[in-house]
Amino acid sequence: MDQLRETADFLKKKTGSNPLVGIVLGSGLGGLVDEMDVSHTIPYGEIPNFLSSTVEGHAGKLIFGELGGKQVVAMQGRFHYYEGYPMQKVTFPIRVMRMLGVKTLMVSNAAGALNPAFEVGDLMIIRDHINMFPENPLRGPNIEELGTRFPEMSETYCRELIGKAKNIATRHKIKFQSGVYIGSPGPTLETPAEYKMFRILGADSTGMSTVPEVITARHAGMKVFGISVITNLSEPSEMDKPTTHEEVQNVAGAAASKMTIVFKELISEL
Ligand code: HPA
Repeated sequence: MDQLRETADFLKKKTGSNPLVGIVLGSGLGGLVDEMDVSHTIPYGEIPNFLSSTVEGHAGKLIFGELGGKQVVAMQGRFHYYEGYPMQKVTFPIRVMRMLGVKTLMVSNAAGALNPAFEVGDLMIIRDHINMFPENPLRGPNIEELGTRFPEMSETYCRELIGKAKNIATRHKIKFQSGVYIGSPGPTLETPAEYKMFRILGADSTGMSTVPEVITARHAGMKVFGISVITNLSEPSEMDKPTTHEEVQNVAGAAASKMTIVFKELISEL
């Protein structure tokens, strides 16, 4: 709590901003920031108790400003479990957002398709998730000021926001899917057998992030909306050519503008 307060106080003093919406931008999806009316850009390295992101395609900046007529704070680049950080560090920025007054969290990620109907470049509105990380970010003593010991997870992704997002996408003729995201630790991509297993478990897309952040946000009472950008397929025929991080970033970059439209309009309707 002391660290959270220190970080939140630092950001409040520096920006004077009271964001109601927090945004997490996944690999290659940082382009949303171009649509923001930016007031402050703060590299993670300058923020007390933050980590710096080590992954290519993740810029590592906290950006304050306006989007869709609302005060927002966006993470351009996130922290991943596979980078070696403890869950408390991976999810620290989400708790800082809550301390700053954020009520709604919008998350995004680049993900592999498990659902055979999906195509590369599709947006998938996240309806639910499966946590395949080896630990839960809330493991350990519960901080009562932040949330309850046993958070309820029956509506992790806000149904009202999902409905609005579907209408927005339809209005803009943006093709979308909806489905279940399964989050696993990485950093390896899946073997063909693992993709098959994840599909059997009931998931439509898979990636190495999002789930810890969303659990933490729900614990803190935030509403959550999420989108996966499908960057690669997992069908057996696709296994002949390996998925590369570069490809993931390129596809995500190309699809980012569609995701930005949905996020921006959804924020304006909040
Ligand atoms: N698996 C896991 N993470 C990913 C993938 C994938 O296929 N694509 C983008 N991130």
